[in-house]
Amino acid sequence: MKILLIGSGGREHTLAWKILQSPLCSELFIAPGNAGTAGICTVLDIAITNFEGLAESCIKNSIEMVVVGPEEPLVKGITDFFKSNKNTSHIAVIGPAKIPAQLEGSKAFAKAFMQRHHIPTASYQEFSEANYTQGVEYIANHSLPIVLKADGLAAGKGVLICNTHQDALTEFESMIQKAKFGEAGKKVVVEQFLKGIEMSVFALTDGKDYVLLPEAKDYKRIGEDDTGLNTGGMGAVSPLPFFDEKLKAKVIDKIVKPTIDGLYKENMDYKGFVFFGLMIDNGEPYVIEYNCRMGDPETEVVIPRLQNDLVQLLLAAGNGTLNNIEILTDKRSAVATVAVSGGYPEEYQKGKTISGLHSSLPPNCLLFHAGTARAGDKIVTNGGRVLVSTAFEDNINAASALSARVLEGITFEGIYYRKDIGYEFK
Ligand code: AMP
Ligand code: GLY
Repeated sequence: MKILLIGSGGREHTLAWKILQSPLCSELFIAPGNAGTAGICTVLDIAITNFEGLAESCIKNSIEMVVVGPEEPLVKGITDFFKSNKNTSHIAVIGPAKIPAQLEGSKAFAKAFMQRHHIPTASYQEFSEANYTQGVEYIANHSLPIVLKADGLAAGKGVLICNTHQDALTEFESMIQKAKFGEAGKKVVVEQFLKGIEMSVFALTDGKDYVLLPEAKDYKRIGEDDTGLNTGGMGAVSPLPFFDEKLKAKVIDKIVKPTIDGLYKENMDYKGFVFFGLMIDNGEPYVIEYNCRMGDPETEVVIPRLQNDLVQLLLAAGNGTLNNIEILTDKRSAVATVAVSGGYPEEYQKGKTISGLHSSLPPNCLLFHAGTARAGDKIVTNGGRVLVSTAFEDNINAASALSARVLEGITFEGIYYRKDIGYEFK
């Protein structure tokens, strides 16, 4: 079958690499992809939110499945768009409909869903202009630190952790009165701070049943030892040594099952990946956030560890037959290290020539493109996160060293990467 993958990051290069291993895929299209996927997929130069353009191209190319990588098209309703158009309604779209995608698109929607289904999460209240004074009072009486979350998508910047009441009140005011995070951020979730260790769990669901994919941990801070600014993710590790059978069973019973059952009971059309961002405190899991897609850079360790045929899994998600599928995984440790542009996550330059890409990789290594583009016969930087190096070894320590070592052979002006991904497990 012909498949279209939507997106342009390291996550999409990884998904493309895996989809192409399936005998079920006859041709893989990508819109718009990057320099890494350009070499392996048929490129469609169509914006990820140009639903009409994407639909037309699917019809023209007899595409039968669309796999949506990033959240933006999902939250804007790409799945509903394809389903409601008679020329595209037969296409399996892997990604939830617009309403369940609000699990990521609206923090308030996600919190209310968790409350309805008794899923453990931080206590919270939701405020807007209408109940602003109650919000001020709620914050003034709240224990510290206080977490403020802009309701809508805010490109990963909408979460503020405030250590004083004054800070929280100032931020609250600028979110609601000055639209600091835009219109969608004028609704604010004020929640309890959760302590513990963060991890990510992934499921693929057909709307009723699900399969659990390998778990991962993402390293969000720019600096080694988890210091400095938050980024989209500087590296990832899978599996996690502390995610034992007991914790896994708790996560399934208290979080994964109630979420999937809740979606089903509420008649939500959800065929796709569910990303559970968790905090584990004293062995107890809490949901920090849901995402309606795979994580990046978690995908770069989760998908290479998956031994099943991904297209077979996606087909089963699309046609409601995930219940009889067993997930098989590579037991070794996988570590991904992300090479970023100098200055990232603040201002950075694009268009820097990347060299060293053509030398052969050591065994057990993969190199995925993220923010890259072709410029004539060169490959240049085209984003903050540029390349992702994934390595497999028998332990996290060795996999981390190997994944960083691969990046030593690659250069572009301003290249930076952490050399300590997975440091706490060493
Ligand atoms: P989010 O955009 O919801 O993923 O939040 C970004 C980051 O903020 C998370 O990855 C956590 O590190 C942190 N965070 C969010 N909510 C909380 C919370 N209630 N308690 C502690 N940390 C949080
Ligand atoms: N790595 C976090 C995310 O994809 O949102």
